[in-house]
Amino acid sequence: MRLVIERMDHQGRGIAFFDGKITFVINGLIGEEVEADIIEEHAKYNLAIAKEIIKSSSKRVASDCPYFIACGGCSLRNMKYEDTLEYKEKRVKNILDLNKIIYPEIKIVANQEPNNYRDKVIFKIRNGQIGFFKENSHDLCEVDNCLLASGEINQVLKALPKLKINKGEVVVRVNDNQEVLIIINTENKINFEKNFFENVKLCGVVVNNKTIYGENFLIERMHNCLFKVSYDAFFQVNHYITQKLWDMVQEQINLDDVVLDLYSGVGTLSIIAAKKAKTVYSIEVVKNAVLDTIFNCKINKVTNVKSFLGKVKDVVAKIDGDFDVVIVDPPRSGLEKETLQVIMDSNIKKIIYISCDTLTLARDLKVLQEKYVLKELNLLDMFSYTYHVECVCVLTLR
Ligand SMILES: C[S@@+](CC[C@H](N)C(=O)[O-])C[C@H]1O[C@@H](n2cnc3c(N)ncnc32)[C@H](O)[C@@H]1O
Repeated sequence: MRLVIERMDHQGRGIAFFDGKITFVINGLIGEEVEADIIEEHAKYNLAIAKEIIKSSSKRVASDCPYFIACGGCSLRNMKYEDTLEYKEKRVKNILDLNKIIYPEIKIVANQEPNNYRDKVIFKIRNGQIGFFKENSHDLCEVDNCLLASGEINQVLKALPKLKINKGEVVVRVNDNQEVLIIINTENKINFEKNFFENVKLCGVVVNNKTIYGENFLIERMHNCLFKVSYDAFFQVNHYITQKLWDMVQEQINLDDVVLDLYSGVGTLSIIAAKKAKTVYSIEVVKNAVLDTIFNCKINKVTNVKSFLGKVKDVVAKIDGDFDVVIVDPPRSGLEKETLQVIMDSNIKKIIYISCDTLTLARDLKVLQEKYVLKELNLLDMFSYTYHVECVCVLTLR
């Protein structure tokens, strides 16, 4: 059927109307007229794919990835990189406007290299085929190269079939020194030989939480610090943008501030803040990440970070103190109600909210803006060519 794309949705899809019903069009750009096939019909909406572009947008480029659309990972690969940033800025503004958030001018930090930037990739394996799940499905798109993944990850991908895994998941992580950690979860017997991966600097292989080769962690060297990152602990996936993010956070800390770092991972932001702060209290739920934080403080000679293990909502109210700054860097689900309440009941002067999901960020800002002013809003292109963005917000007490 013929569709005219009237606007873009929050997942990089075009929006059109077919017989009055909203229709999300994969690979449709605003202003285009396309010939599309409906692939899913729901009570309230259709999902379609543009098969032929009848009237093309001036922003359209031919995708350079053979898996574009089938894979679902990069929804913006049909635009020039600069235009993906414009799309992302409009997307963030639209979500904030819908939630009636008052915000300042958005500062955008572009990626240095929008391809091959990802230092962590999760490959899915089904019936011996290796690839990614299609968007919102468990159907596998088999791939033999990923334009988002770093060169080392693509080298590992080429060798993965030798492990003879039939069903499971392989996480490949790379540090700033191109050293590789492979984490495998499967019920199959693994056929591992070191020489399968002779083209990469292999640091370790972990299968079902057991180390079968080398170490079960990577060491990252960033911001003049060393960070041990255990196989199951979080670390940002884009080293260049992470540096920018850390600079922004450190700039916001004043000498002798007392800081709370919530959802603190291996203590990266705590340690960076601790260089200026009087004391930093960090809370993290993954045990190995808390142990890494303690270790990371020692190797960086930082003595003013106190780490707590547990869910933020259970621990935060129990830490006594007069805090100047709270750093929150939650998972996509955003802040729990209890945590928001603790912040709203406090007299914390400044909040640094780091978010990888603008929808939950807006939900939380709606509550926070009753007491705080959103002073700074930075959009960091951590996840180029996908519709995801990283936001760093600075809020100050009214
Ligand atoms: C986006 S990461 C941020 C980590 C860290 N700030 C950094 O930049 O490296 C979110 C972290 O929150 C942790 N986490 C998730 N839910 C949590 C909860 N309810 N309480 C405490 N930590 C949680 C995750 O394990 C992860 O380390």
